[in-house]
Amino acid sequence: MDITTESAGLAFTDAATYADREQLHRGLALLRKESPVHWVDAPGFRPFWALTRHSDIMDVERDHQRFVNEPRPILGPKVVEEEIARMAAAGAGVRSLVHVDGEEHRSLRAIGAGWFRPRAMRHMEEQIRELARRYVGRMADLGGECDFVEEISLNFPLYVIMHLLGVPESDFPIMLMLTQQVFGNADQDKSRDAASPESIVAAFQEIFGYFAKLTADRRSNPTDDLASAVANARVDGEYLSEQHTLSYYLILATAGHDTTSAALAGGVQALADHPAELQRLKADPALMPTAVDEIIRWVTPVTSFMRTAVEDCTIREVGIREGDGLLLSYPSANRDEDVFAEPFRFDVGRTPNKHLSFGFGVHYCLGAALAKMEIGIFLSELLPRLAGLEVAGEPVLTQTHFVGGLKRLPIRYELSR
Ligand code: HEM
Repeated sequence: MDITTESAGLAFTDAATYADREQLHRGLALLRKESPVHWVDAPGFRPFWALTRHSDIMDVERDHQRFVNEPRPILGPKVVEEEIARMAAAGAGVRSLVHVDGEEHRSLRAIGAGWFRPRAMRHMEEQIRELARRYVGRMADLGGECDFVEEISLNFPLYVIMHLLGVPESDFPIMLMLTQQVFGNADQDKSRDAASPESIVAAFQEIFGYFAKLTADRRSNPTDDLASAVANARVDGEYLSEQHTLSYYLILATAGHDTTSAALAGGVQALADHPAELQRLKADPALMPTAVDEIIRWVTPVTSFMRTAVEDCTIREVGIREGDGLLLSYPSANRDEDVFAEPFRFDVGRTPNKHLSFGFGVHYCLGAALAKMEIGIFLSELLPRLAGLEVAGEPVLTQTHFVGGLKRLPIRYELSR
């Protein structure tokens, strides 16, 4: 089918396009070339500008006073955005780091920032390595064939983040189900009732209920986990409001899970699809840091975030009006020919690698160091034992507008004991 800038623009609102990477990237390449600041007016969505060039996305993220996150940080169908706006007007709903700007954002971010600095993450290293060994051991137990998503990549990052939050292991399965309902909501397989606002609101409410109990517990019995830090944080001498506290847990539990799962599974698929790169990394483990960044560029688990212009302005001579929404297309930025030499080549030694998978600027991913550590440690436990790896069936991608990656990755492998 011929792609036009119009059909490529409509693809941002079509969850199915994100499950077909070839078609997605053909459209994004066309937009970068012919309409890098593109107006999208799709049925069922409020209109917005789609930005597809790396430099434009960086400029917008850098200019965080002119382009703000509130009130529309994430693209959703109009009915979902309206429901969220109604809840916000009533003082309810989610008010996490990604929903706020300015001083409110700065003070909330400071609470978690210390926990996620690379140096502070070092104390997590042994715990994560232990979990990674457990999961590589599980691959060995499965006898050389498994669905890598179902058995490994869905669970390992969830365990890491739940440990960090101090959630007991017996509650992990319910958290897994709820976070998938919130994030994978456009996919029939994963939600109670695909894309219905009620199903998303119901999943949010269950997560909120769970975390309300956690807060009460940590306030009466403080520990040294991240949940305690959030529950007992004070801004201007006061505890965070209930809305801020619960939103904080929610963003940590959800943002730290599906994203890293998607990167890990996509990374294993990329290594299986590029045996020479897999051999190169096995032969030279010092390449692990560049390999991890390349995997995160290659997969780009987050499809986009949004900003709203607070005044009239121009981008590439296109007039943007106050109140217009701007979609930042990270998969497009990460294949931008002006920034990446041979962007469609998977290169475990790629340097420099200025990918935007973690965003940029004041909202830059808080968990970037943790995510990289998890993927690096898992692969450094897996690779020395791996004698063979191949994709053994059709990999299937989640249908989503937001965070997504593989929902099935059948693999065949040989692991030494
Ligand atoms: C490969 C894995 C991950 C990817 C691709 C990813 C991607 C992103 C992106 C694109 C943003 C928005 C940045 C922007 O607006 O400029 C973000 C924000 C955020 N991420 Fe991640 N993320 C990952 C893993 C994690 C992990 C493991 C955590 C922590 C548990 C985490 C926590 C957060 C938080 C709290 C924010 C909000 C930051 C803010 O608004 O100040 N992420 N992430």
